[in-house]
Order: sequence, then C-alpha cells, then structure tokens
Amino acid sequence: MGDIRLKKIKIFDTTLRDGEQSPGASMNIEEKLNLARQLSRLGVDVIEAGFPIASEGDFEAVRTIAQEIKGVEIAGLARANEKDIYRAYSAVKYAEKPVIHTFIATSDVHLKYKLKITREELYEKAVNMVKYAKSFTENVEFSAEDASRSDLDFLCKVIKGVIAAGATTVNIPDTVGYITPFEFFNFIKNIGEKVEGIENVILSVHCHNDLGLGVANSLSAILAGANQVECTINGIGERAGNAALEEIVMALDVRKDIYNAETSINTAEIFRSSQLLTHITGISVQPNKAIVGKNAFAHEAGIHQDGVLKEKTTYEIMTPERVGRQPDELVLGKHSGKHAFKEKLISLGYLLNDEEIEKAFAKFKNLADKKKDIYDEDIDSLVSKSHHFEKYELKYANVICGDTVSPLAMVKLNVDGELKHDSSCGNGPVDAAINAIEKIVNSKAKVVAYEVKSIRGTTEAQGDVSVTIEYNGAGITGRSAHTDIVVASAKAYVNALNKLYIHNKNIADKPVCEIEINA
Ligand code: KIV
Ligand code: ZN
Repeated sequence: MGDIRLKKIKIFDTTLRDGEQSPGASMNIEEKLNLARQLSRLGVDVIEAGFPIASEGDFEAVRTIAQEIKGVEIAGLARANEKDIYRAYSAVKYAEKPVIHTFIATSDVHLKYKLKITREELYEKAVNMVKYAKSFTENVEFSAEDASRSDLDFLCKVIKGVIAAGATTVNIPDTVGYITPFEFFNFIKNIGEKVEGIENVILSVHCHNDLGLGVANSLSAILAGANQVECTINGIGERAGNAALEEIVMALDVRKDIYNAETSINTAEIFRSSQLLTHITGISVQPNKAIVGKNAFAHEAGIHQDGVLKEKTTYEIMTPERVGRQPDELVLGKHSGKHAFKEKLISLGYLLNDEEIEKAFAKFKNLADKKKDIYDEDIDSLVSKSHHFEKYELKYANVICGDTVSPLAMVKLNVDGELKHDSSCGNGPVDAAINAIEKIVNSKAKVVAYEVKSIRGTTEAQGDVSVTIEYNGAGITGRSAHTDIVVASAKAYVNALNKLYIHNKNIADKPVCEIEINA
C-alpha cells in the first residue's frame, strides 16, 4: 500500500491576542516575548501577537515579537478601518512573514445593533479594507466576525469579494460559540462549494467554547475542508475561551485514520508550552483537562493500573512523553545540585539566564532547608515570579491571630526602593494582611477571587495562593507560594499589584485610540 498523503493543517495561535482577552490573563511585553519564543519552538505556523491599536503596550509587544521571532508568520489584528490597519502594519512590518489580520462582523445582529450599517455598506468596507491592507503586505487575513450566525449567501458574497481584493486567508469564526459540529461541517462544506476560488486561499476557522464545542467544531471544519485552525494554549480566551491548541493537535495526531491530516507542531513541546502559560498568567488548568491537566495520564483505578502495567495501550491512547510529559517526576531535595536544578527548570519550560538561575537556585536551597521533597509545583512557585520587574516587594508580613483575638497584620513593603510599613486588622489574618498592604499601596483594586491549595505533601507543604484583583474592568491574577499561607497570600496580592502596575502603565503610556474590543 502506498503512503496516504496527509493534508497539512496550519496552526494559527492566538494565545497572545484572543487568549490575552481572558479575564486575568494580561501579560507584559517580556512575558509575551517569552511565550512567543516557546510558540515558535512548539512549531505553530502563525503567531497572532496582539492588537496593535489597542494600546502602546500591545503595539510594542507585537513589534518586539515581529523583530525577534523568525521563521513564523506574525499577525497583528486590526478592525476594518484604515487607522487600525496602518497601526497593525507598523507593528508587524518587522517580521520575516508579516500578516495583517483584519475583521468585521457579517451577521445581521451585529450589522443592525453594533455597526449600524447595511449589508451593502459592510461589503464595500470589507473589500476596500482588504485592498488597503494588501497595499502593505502580501499576506492578508480577513475574518467575518460572527460568521456562523451570518446569512450563508451573504457571507459567501463577502468572501468572494475579499478574495478578489487580495485576501490570502479567509477565516470563519464562531465568535459566540453557538454552532454545533454537524452544522459547522455543513456550513464550511457549503462555503467550499459555493465560493469559487476558495481553493486558492487558506480557509480558516476560529471557534469559541461557550458550549464546550470549540475543539469539536474545529475538527468538524477540518473534515469539511478547512486547512487552518485558530486556537490557544490551554484554550484560554474570551468568556469560556477558544478551541485548545493541544486538544486539536493531539486529536489530529492520534486519529490520523479519521482526519488524514498533520500539523507542523512538535508535540513534545506541548506540555512545556502549557506550563509556561500557566506560570505567566497564574491561571491553572483543571486537573482533568485533556492532554495537559495534572491527571490526564494518571491511572487511579486498580483495574486500570493493572492493565497499564501489563500493556500500556489497554488504557493509554497516547504516551505522556508524546506531549512532552515526564513519566517519572524527578523530585529534588536539599542535596540536589545546580545541574539537576537546571535540568528541572528546562523540563518545566523556564528559560532563564545565568543570573536568574542563580537567584532561583538560592531560593530553592532556602526552601529545601524547610521542606524535604521539592516537587515541580514548588519549583514553579519559586521561579515563575523571580525574573520579572517588581515595583512592590514584600519584606515581611506578620500577623497576630487566633480564636480569642482580632486578627492584626503588620507588613513592610519595598516600594521603588523605599521601605514602607503599616498595620491593619481584618476579618481574618489574610484579610488583615491584604488590608495593610492596600493601606500602603492605595491601588483601589478590588479582590474578586482568592484561592489557596496545598502543593502536595502533608502539613509541611507550601500553600499555593492565587489572588485575582479587578481594577477598571481589568482582572489580574497574582500567585505565590510559601510554607506560611498568610505570607503566600500577601505575596500573591503583591504579585497581582505588580502586574496591575505594568498593565496600567501600558495603557497610560499612550492610549492610541478609544477602543471597543468586541472580538
Ligand atoms: O472571535 C472572533 O470572531 C475573533 C475575530 C477577531 C477573529 O476573535
Ligand atoms: Zn475570537
């Protein structure tokens, strides 16, 4: 039997754009660049690096990524207007393979209530703006926002028009995560049959996960003829998120018999990419999350363990190594040397320079004096925040608490090199510590979520705390761990404040235009 030719599916990663629109997922430029480097190692075809008109920070991030990351297409998002498109071009033009990604909604509900224009006006705008984008770059992607709720014949007319105007990729988003797999299959198939010339461009899909169908819809679209999928690491994104890259890629890989398709993804980099994103954003995936969740390869039931020990394929459809997971975790301790520590950092996806490694190693030794076994999560907790710029640093957080006294916290912070201290009471010791910090910083941010969990082990374990704060509509999550959960909470809060500071700075630097992000 001869080889079956596999169809190439392009992976368009939008973690840095749609993913960043996730509540609490804001990243600074350094973090975005780090993630972009990892996406390039992962082997994605396109990195959508941001929405350059959104803020000076977004623009800088896209420009920096375009300048540094070679061999990958770098896309910048733009609404269908000249100002956005020119701004996107100005950021992506440094890339080896720049892409302007312009979008406008095609559904009647968006035309009537949001854009307040007619179908004819929309058609003109879409075609003219693709022509305008094409005057800057060869690669122009056009997205018909809310395509899945648009009238099919009108959508096909728009697609024909933008292809004639020079679009090289046409993207069909299920913006609100409404469509179902069978319907989407027919929708994409119909577009393929009705639009002459579609075979000469990339037909892309972009599925949101509001009904938990983002991945299923993307896979259906591939069966119907789509040859690009837009997705994010860990499925992060607006509301319920976007289709998860790792799930689409592994479904195509494991079920080649069904999809006859392949991607350029180096699957061994999947876990590392997922971990890196978690460290940067502080947003963990649920333990049972497919491919990258903590339990995705754990066999708990005796009957399963027995089967796997006898023959792995009884209960395993892919090996953990295939997605870059270590079957046997190497647990470090106080006798572990720098070499083992460095290897561990690499396996966890950290790319630190020598100075950062030294700093992290010192923290590791410190922790190893307090705690016998140091697990991966412990390493995450001490490394992930050690290499970022910090405006605020917690020097100490001491509390008096118990069942017969009111909790009282005394904290000391280093604020831009100046030491400041204050005290406060609260409902409990954590509340008191956060109140005391807030008295110093006066951020006016509101704590909207707080979570504490133990990093394995017994009562000697570290408490891993995440605190989400909200300010002016932006949700930002800080994370930290310590053997004392009040200290961990105070540090997590300070971490969130540092991120908020950078977030506000990005916005305040130079607001480019008033922006209404509706994608
Ligand atoms: O969900 C959406 O429609 C989008 C577009 C901008 C592609 O994110
Ligand atoms: Zn989207």
